[in-house]
Amino acid sequence: MTNVTDQDRVLIFDTTLRDGEQSPGATMTHAEKLEIAELLDDMGVDIIEAGFPIASEGDFKAVSEIAERSKNSRICGLARANFADIDRCWEAVKHAGKNRIHTFIGTSPLHRAIPNLSMDEMADKIHETVSHARNLCENVQWSPMDATRTEWDYLCRVIEIAIKAGATTINIPDTVGYTAPVESADLIKRLIETVPGGDEVVFATHCHNDLGMATANSLAAVAGGARQIECTINGLGERAGNTALEEVVMALRTRNDIMPWNTGIDTTKIMHISRRVATVSGFNVQFNKAIVGKNAFAHESGIHQDGMLKNRENFEIMRPEDIGLSGTSLPLGKHSGRAALRDKLETLGYELGDNQLRDIFVRFKDLADRKKEVFDDDLIALMTLDEEDDRLQLVSMKVTCGTGGQAESTVELEVEGKDVIATAHGDGPVDATFKAIRAIYPNKAHLQLYQVHAVTEGTDAQATVSVRLEEDGMIATGQSANTDTVVSSAKAYIHALNRLIVRREKTGPGADTREISYKDLT
Ligand code: KIV
Ligand code: ZN
Repeated sequence: MTNVTDQDRVLIFDTTLRDGEQSPGATMTHAEKLEIAELLDDMGVDIIEAGFPIASEGDFKAVSEIAERSKNSRICGLARANFADIDRCWEAVKHAGKNRIHTFIGTSPLHRAIPNLSMDEMADKIHETVSHARNLCENVQWSPMDATRTEWDYLCRVIEIAIKAGATTINIPDTVGYTAPVESADLIKRLIETVPGGDEVVFATHCHNDLGMATANSLAAVAGGARQIECTINGLGERAGNTALEEVVMALRTRNDIMPWNTGIDTTKIMHISRRVATVSGFNVQFNKAIVGKNAFAHESGIHQDGMLKNRENFEIMRPEDIGLSGTSLPLGKHSGRAALRDKLETLGYELGDNQLRDIFVRFKDLADRKKEVFDDDLIALMTLDEEDDRLQLVSMKVTCGTGGQAESTVELEVEGKDVIATAHGDGPVDATFKAIRAIYPNKAHLQLYQVHAVTEGTDAQATVSVRLEEDGMIATGQSANTDTVVSSAKAYIHALNRLIVRREKTGPGADTREISYKDLT
């Protein structure tokens, strides 16, 4: 077992901004990446994997700026096994007080076949690239991608090479989410015992959730001796996602009796960052998701409520406050003032400057005029509204629905300063509205996702709508909240279009689109 860290301490390596963000459709803007990085840093994440600097100018800038702004976390960038990637990664992370280069190569038979390298050639490449990274940065992580499907002898051989070349952390990825907890624990334990120098580095576990075992596999790896867990907020990530940070952290905290390892995470910050990641990625959290799902702390059935009233511990193994969920709190209303609003938003995790407060107060008053009681979830939805780009703006709309499903929508938009009106018919009010918007602003964007959520109960509830559009490989997600579902849908669609326009304009030299797709990772 490693003697490098305190034996009771497990490092939390968050890769929401790299492995999470590479998930199709989860693309975040520069400002959103900076915000999430700041929240991760504040909550006590040990290492933030901020991106893949060579992938695009945008990734490079995001990693560099996150590195410059970092306070306590170590900032890490990803690099494939070549000098250009590693140099670019170093250029970005070198600004951080604490930095790391993470370089990797696929070592399983299937992954070795992609660059068509023999076992010996790959071994040489690992030696060269890890040595190069270590000459630049004193903290180097190396990953044999698809480690759990790599032949045992070869895995031991390449890990030994990486350690000799200067890697300080060895990460064992279960890239395709294939492993099971007993294997996960056993693999790490045997590697630490077998590989020369294995007890002088930190072993990390990086699991994907294809079989729903990512959390169990990560915790089993820790039992086997791993002292770094790689994870993402809400388990965001490609396919079934990555290990969820909130799950491993709360499991270690709640069952510390049988898993006596600690993290440095301030768990009261979990709920806020979970909501922000859901909002900016456009990936909503399922209601029954462990820890951060809307129902995770709701004890609705009669038996449970009765038990809860007698003694919370009957059904509650964690307290909502532990993850930053405020208990029952009084709703605000149209007579609530600015100070009450600021106070409430602060308890929900938002720290606002005076200008931001002024803007949100206007929106709050508007909502309170339409809705008697403004609940915490209403305020959170209001905070998701994003006015960053406004080429297209909704001026007015009028919708008529017939009983046969046919609807007519007349939409007035301000398009770069000019008012334009169009009427369209469609299969229901949302379809008609989207068609009217397309008539005003013709585009070939393909609607990848249209999702509606009622924020609270009651017929006056706000509906939050997410719309994801795709055009020539570029993806943009728009969101909106309104007590009127069709207005909310129109605004979310316009928001996504605005974002697509900005992205389209940036295409060309210095564009923020990825020149290297994550599919070309080897
Ligand atoms: O899943 C994986 O193998 C990865 C590597 C790049 C570490 O994300
Ligand atoms: Zn991964």
